[in-house]
Amino acid sequence: MYFLGFNCYGHNAAAALLKNGEIVGAVEEERLNREKHSGRFPELAIRHLMALGGVESSDLAGVGYYWAPWREMRSAVAHLVRYAPESRHLLSGASFTTEYRGRLPAMLRVRQRLERTIGPLKSDRFSYIPHHQCHAASAFFPSGFDRAAVLSVDMLGEWTSTLFAVGEGLVIRPLNEIPFPHSLGMVYAAFTQHLGFEPINDEWKVMGLAPYGKPRFTKLFEELIELLPDGRFRVNTNLVAYHVRGRKQMLRPSVSAVIGAPRAPDDGLDDRHADIAASLQRRIADAMMHCVTWLQKTTGAADLCLAGGVALNCSANGEILERSGFRRVFVQPAAHDAGTALGAALHLAHQHGSPRVVFPSAYLGPAYSDADISRALTRADLTFRRADNLEDEVAELLASNRIVGWFQGQMEYGPRALGNRSILADPRDAGMKDKINSAVKFRESFRPFAASVLAEHQGEWFTMADVSPYMTINFRAREGRAQQGPAVIHEDGT
Ligand SMILES: [Fe+2]
Repeated sequence: MYFLGFNCYGHNAAAALLKNGEIVGAVEEERLNREKHSGRFPELAIRHLMALGGVESSDLAGVGYYWAPWREMRSAVAHLVRYAPESRHLLSGASFTTEYRGRLPAMLRVRQRLERTIGPLKSDRFSYIPHHQCHAASAFFPSGFDRAAVLSVDMLGEWTSTLFAVGEGLVIRPLNEIPFPHSLGMVYAAFTQHLGFEPINDEWKVMGLAPYGKPRFTKLFEELIELLPDGRFRVNTNLVAYHVRGRKQMLRPSVSAVIGAPRAPDDGLDDRHADIAASLQRRIADAMMHCVTWLQKTTGAADLCLAGGVALNCSANGEILERSGFRRVFVQPAAHDAGTALGAALHLAHQHGSPRVVFPSAYLGPAYSDADISRALTRADLTFRRADNLEDEVAELLASNRIVGWFQGQMEYGPRALGNRSILADPRDAGMKDKINSAVKFRESFRPFAASVLAEHQGEWFTMADVSPYMTINFRAREGRAQQGPAVIHEDGT
């Protein structure tokens, strides 16, 4: 039985195809249309998967879409009334036009859009699936855990920011949820914008900047995100404005009075910016810990699955693995919205009784043959040769401080380069980060790089006895290792 899942008209559009519960493939549209974070209908991704599986529309037992638009509309109207009159700002300007005149009607017609690409579907084969159910499914079903606590922590999906659930066998049971505007993802986005980066895209830069600063604005962030009983939290709407003014003004002026004016994208970064990032990161990590602690108490589960955009915060995830008491933490590489394509397909497949299959690897995207590669190299007018002993040659290049672009096999699903489309370099050279940044023309010198360590040797390097194959969980380096891998061991020792 084949199931297709996809997401679009938000950000990070993707598609995933399953056969009897196994992943045939999963790919983000941006990799094929070359538009970073593309939210367009994933025409190329879907065509690729259908061709790969040799599948026609009539073969599909179900198609799942990652959003329930009707749910959102009801909540949006209630929100406008609740926050009137200030919410009138949402009704004018770009956010309303793109969100409610553009996005929602497109979502309501998405089945027709799909049928134009793959041909007609049988009438009962298309489902809108609530956003957080997709995130939760993408985390729990492939985790390999029989039973686990599940936290989907996001900006918002329909009108929910956070879902608490417990997964068991083929069922995920929701326990609690937190509605917008109380959203860790939105708060992170608001400060990403304040720091002069692009919200919903550059949050990882803020996470990378945080270890360089001191969390000296703790008091403000404690007022901003209040931790409540039952694992819940509340965002102080006297300090944020995103819920009434959209992206035009995400924070109240009273926040700038404490932490200073917003940074323009081309301005330099100083200690104050790093301190803001550190304070934000501290509070977000504490809030996540608060959520998972409640989940653990309530479910008694030994293991935890995380999903949603905020679950790409590998620093916070590392703290959760280190301190929450959960035995294992699973975060699949596409924890953000691209992963909802996989989640939507899994949700349907397991409803139809497909068996659970452990996440095989992040390498779920397209691969290219040697003939494809030599054609592309010729077209780009590059000189090339076949190496007789590629691994030895590359090891030698790395040891002599060269930077290597490494391309092999199937493309990664999710935002992280995990060894099939990666930049490789020697981590022993402290200057290597700057070297890569200037060679690849990255602007941000704090951009973190990750270590790739053989699983058999991981205990020699890190204090935690687990693996992190998807770069979604940070580990603490053992004492004395920072000098040996200065280019990959961060300011905070992770
Ligand atoms: Fe999401």
